[in-house]
Amino acid sequence: MRAKPHPAAAEPDVSTHAPRGRTTARSLTGEDPHLRAAYRLCHRITRVHDPGIHALFQLMPAALRPACWALWAAASVLDDLADQRDVDSTEREARVEAWTQALERDLAARISTDQVRHALVDTALRWRLDLPHLQGAVSSTLDEVRDRRFADWAEWRGWCEALVPWVDQVRHLFERAGAPMTLRLDRQRDYKQFIDGAQLTDVLTDLSTDLAQGLLLLPREALDPFPDAEDDLRHRRWSPAVAALIAELTSLARQWVTRPAMTTGMHPGAANMLDTAACLLRAQLDAVDAAGPALLKRTPRLSVVTRTRIFAPARLRAGLAWSLTPLTVPEPRRPAVSAHVPRPAADHTALRTSPPHPEGARPPQIPADQMPAHVAVIMDGNGRWAQQRGLPRPEGHHAGTAAVHEIVCGALDIGLRHLTLYAFSTENWKRDTGEIITILEAIRRDLDEGPLRDLDVRQRWLGHPDKLPTELVQALQRAERRTRNRIGLTLTMCINYGGRDEITRTAAALARAAQAGDIDPHLISEDDFARHLPHPDMPDVDLLWRTGNEQRTSNFLPWHATYAELHFTPGYWPDIDRRDLWQAITEYSRRQRRHGAAPLAITRDDASALPSR
Ligand code: IPE
Ligand code: IPE
Ligand code: MG
Repeated sequence: MRAKPHPAAAEPDVSTHAPRGRTTARSLTGEDPHLRAAYRLCHRITRVHDPGIHALFQLMPAALRPACWALWAAASVLDDLADQRDVDSTEREARVEAWTQALERDLAARISTDQVRHALVDTALRWRLDLPHLQGAVSSTLDEVRDRRFADWAEWRGWCEALVPWVDQVRHLFERAGAPMTLRLDRQRDYKQFIDGAQLTDVLTDLSTDLAQGLLLLPREALDPFPDAEDDLRHRRWSPAVAALIAELTSLARQWVTRPAMTTGMHPGAANMLDTAACLLRAQLDAVDAAGPALLKRTPRLSVVTRTRIFAPARLRAGLAWSLTPLTVPEPRRPAVSAHVPRPAADHTALRTSPPHPEGARPPQIPADQMPAHVAVIMDGNGRWAQQRGLPRPEGHHAGTAAVHEIVCGALDIGLRHLTLYAFSTENWKRDTGEIITILEAIRRDLDEGPLRDLDVRQRWLGHPDKLPTELVQALQRAERRTRNRIGLTLTMCINYGGRDEITRTAAALARAAQAGDIDPHLISEDDFARHLPHPDMPDVDLLWRTGNEQRTSNFLPWHATYAELHFTPGYWPDIDRRDLWQAITEYSRRQRRHGAAPLAITRDDASALPSR
């Protein structure tokens, strides 16, 4: 997919008006912090991947924006999977296929452990999107993976058609909101041509990136009248033939995106979006024309002045137009507390519920919006626990395993989604070999024989295989495969993990991507970095808890824990039980988190879509 669904193109006709019911985006996500985090990520992906599209979404009623972010983010993630040039097309196809199948499963389960899919599933179910259509849109990405050569414009337009199902999803949203955008039959051609124009603008804008990957996404029919242009382009030579070809194509794209009749009789809010999108595309084409030889070296971008000139008046018009438009917005779905949702696991193990606390203690009721999505624990104090009892240190590690089981049960009981445990650090190799062997062997045995095997826990491993015994690495990988479709709790065990090591390896992965031309080193963002982490879907840590009476983080999760609430307790790890976790979460729920904002500072409509924690 090149141009992703153009939201504006999805708004040919708005006709139904009911009394205006102002709905903020926050009320769409309800009180489920996990869901708010998922939509927040989608918002970020949209903003970072395509500021133009993000700005166009801002012209929509606030209530519809989160759904658009979710659709757009899903399209972007799939696009990235289809475009990863460090792997061959078979592997790319497998990755897209895996994502598509995971979405199918998630839609059936009505929940996902992947944040983008979680938001998409929520959008699809809440807005009652046409699921086969949505899946059709997702599957169309598979065509992206395959080699793209087009003999003529007709074939090229066939490729653009893959965008239509995405655009249709946005149309469905408006329909469900009570503002149907029924496409007028006499405007169908305009609508298609507009999408083609958006796609051609995108191809021209991305020419340098595509050429770096050996791609030339233009039909032979367009290239043939300009002898040598193709060869010059592939060798990045700005020749008269290339200049003439580009001029011809920008003029064609300008005609295609200029469809004034398309907005005739349309609701002013929709017409405003479409007209603004057309303006934006034309400005982008001007930037392509103005770039000259630089077009073959870098992506031409719009200046802030140009963007402001386009969007400032458009926002004013949007505010007025939508203030007159009533929308019906579906209620938030009930937060999906996955811990108690029975669901068959991929390995067909009959899943048990977690055994009750020995004294019958029950978890506290924490309001969903005050629950942390991710708790990370530095399990410290095994050695001192043993020494205190006159036992050898390894005994402390054995006792610590029981505390791990307790905490996992406590996490399931209270409905926590992500628990990450620090079990062995890259610095722990400094210990005595006997102690290292005890720790690692206890972990391996627990994976193969321990009681977590048949709880609804997706087990993952974070760390590096270097120096770890092969049997342990295999056991970790087996557990990961066996539990990958479980949804109750994601338990990430950090074994041979070091925060600096993780950051260094991620930086190296980014450098490789830049070298391969997959990413522009000048534009690397935090999101790009996060996408290259070993588990890109791991959410930020909300609560970082360390036992054992030490107050330091010891190289644990530096990327994810920058805004974590810290909680230090004096007890040694083997003495911990699930009530300590519940206590930590209860304390967390009383804290006020601001993430740098002043208290009560966030008042804008779209800011209200963001999670407060
Ligand atoms: C934590 O307990 C477990 C690991 C680091 C593997 P320690 O073994 O660090 O216990 P103390 O800090 O020496 O008491
Ligand atoms: C941190 O504990 C690592 C784990 C719990 C696995 P350590 O006991 O190794 O940390 P320091 O050395 O006291 O900082
Ligand atoms: Mg220690």
